[in-house]
Amino acid sequence: MSTELTESAVPPSTEPPSAPSRRTFIATTTAVGGAVVAGGLTTGPAALAAEPEAAAEAPPSGRVSLTVNGKRHTVTVDNRTSLLDLLREHLNLPGSKKGCNAGACGACTVLVDGRRVNSCLTLAVRLEGVEVTTIEGLAPGGEDGELHPLQKAFIEEDAFQCGYCTPGQIMSGVGCIQEGHTGSRDEIREWMSGNICRCGCYVKIVRAVEQTAHGK
Ligand code: FES
Ligand code: FES
Repeated sequence: MSTELTESAVPPSTEPPSAPSRRTFIATTTAVGGAVVAGGLTTGPAALAAEPEAAAEAPPSGRVSLTVNGKRHTVTVDNRTSLLDLLREHLNLPGSKKGCNAGACGACTVLVDGRRVNSCLTLAVRLEGVEVTTIEGLAPGGEDGELHPLQKAFIEEDAFQCGYCTPGQIMSGVGCIQEGHTGSRDEIREWMSGNICRCGCYVKIVRAVEQTAHGK
């Protein structure tokens, strides 16, 4: 015998006498929705017609001058623009990656005045006068020149698989070395812990940072 419950299988006595049926509930909410539209409150064609007026208001924007990879830029951006979006969408520098866009993965790491930051959490308009270094500006010989020692070490140690986290790992590794947090592999692991590698290349990443810091 089937034990599946259907609407008709529910004994009438289990439903409180005053509870609305599904049919009356739908009828009631439809009527209320119609009343809201008729009253010109929040939804429906009447409200949509008013939208262009609100959309005409431009979002607040700001002007900022900053140096990126040795080149000065002055831009006007929406105040909500992150440094990551400024780099990728306004300055055509897509090397810094957008992983979580919430400060949790480190794929967007760049150096601001020599300090590593999550560019997805940094508002561009607050960076007046700063110097930003991204993965594109790391190699001393430029894009076609000699690589940075940590870039070479990543290649020698084969410290990547898909490569999506790699720009952030390298920029964070440069910061880690400059800060002097390379006394041991544990210390490197600790100070690189904000950079996630979904491919699990951590052992080789730590080796690459260590090799660059100590020539091992
Ligand atoms: Fe910035 Fe993940 S994209 S921390
Ligand atoms: Fe794939 Fe790190 S190499 S996420």
